[in-house]
Amino acid sequence: MSPRQVKVVRSLAQLREVVRGWRGAGDRVGLVPTMGALHEGHLSLVRLAKAKSGRTVVSIFVNPTQFAPHEDFTRYPRDEAGDRAKLASVDCDLVWAPDLAEMYPTGHATSVVPKGAAEGLESAHRPSFFVGVATVCTKLFTQVAPDLAVFGEKDYQQLCVIRQVVRDLDLPIEIVGHPTVRESDGLAMSSRNAYLTGEERALAPLIHQVLLETAASVLDGVRIQEATRRGRDRLAAAGFRVDYLELREAGTLAPVEDESKRPLRALVAAWLGKTRLIDNIAVS
Ligand code: PAF
Repeated sequence: MSPRQVKVVRSLAQLREVVRGWRGAGDRVGLVPTMGALHEGHLSLVRLAKAKSGRTVVSIFVNPTQFAPHEDFTRYPRDEAGDRAKLASVDCDLVWAPDLAEMYPTGHATSVVPKGAAEGLESAHRPSFFVGVATVCTKLFTQVAPDLAVFGEKDYQQLCVIRQVVRDLDLPIEIVGHPTVRESDGLAMSSRNAYLTGEERALAPLIHQVLLETAASVLDGVRIQEATRRGRDRLAAAGFRVDYLELREAGTLAPVEDESKRPLRALVAAWLGKTRLIDNIAVS
C-alpha cells in the first residue's frame, strides 16, 4: 500500500470549501501555522492540535514580511515533499500552502501593528518582525477560521504577541502553547539549527545551559541585572554574539520592576557564526 498523501490546497477558495465541509459535518478545526522545514517540534504541535480538534490544518508559508532585507528569507530551508511525508505520519488533514500572490495579492496594504508584548527583545533587533508575524497570523486565522491554533513556546515572545492580537482583535480562536521540544543535549529544536556547522552545533546547547544557570541564580536571590550579566559574559566567552539575555514578566513580557514577582521568563537570542538562536525558560 502506498503511504497516505496529505492533501495540499493553494487557493483560498479551495481552503474554504474543505473547511466548510468539515464544519458541516460538525468537526472542530485546529491550525498549526509554520514556515515548513518541519522537525519533531512542529510534529508535536500537530499532535496536540489533533488531540484537541477533529481536523487539523498545517499552513506552510515562508512569510517574506517578517524577514528584514538582510535576513535569511531566500536561504530559509524549504522542503515541501519532505514536510508532506512528515505530516502524513502525524495524520494531518490538510496542508494550506498559498503562494506569495495568494497571500499578498497586488495592492495588499494593510498590516497589524502589535505593541505591548511585541516591545523590546526580538523587536529591538528585528524591528518589523512582529508586524510581519501578526499580519500573516491574523490572515491565517481569518483564512482557516480555526477553533484553536497551536504555537510553540520556543518562540515565546511570538506566542505572547499572538495571544495579545487575538484578545485585542476579538478573534474567536483559542491559542494553545506547546512546551519547547529539545534535542537530548538541551538545544531547542529549530529549522535554523540546520545552518550550524559541526563545531557550532557542539557549542549550541550552552545557550540552554546559561538560561538554566541564570534562572537558578535569580531564584537563589542574585539580582537580575547581575545574573543576566554573568550569563551574557559566559556566552560571549564561548564565542556567541549575544543580542539579549533578559528576564521579563511571564504573561505580559513587561520589564521586571519588582524582583520578587513570579512567574518570570528568561529569554535569550545569540548568534553563533551566521546562525541566530533563540530560547527561553520559565523562572518560577
Ligand atoms: O513561527 C513561525 O514559524 C512563524 O513565525 C509563523 C508563526 C508561521 C508566522 O509566519
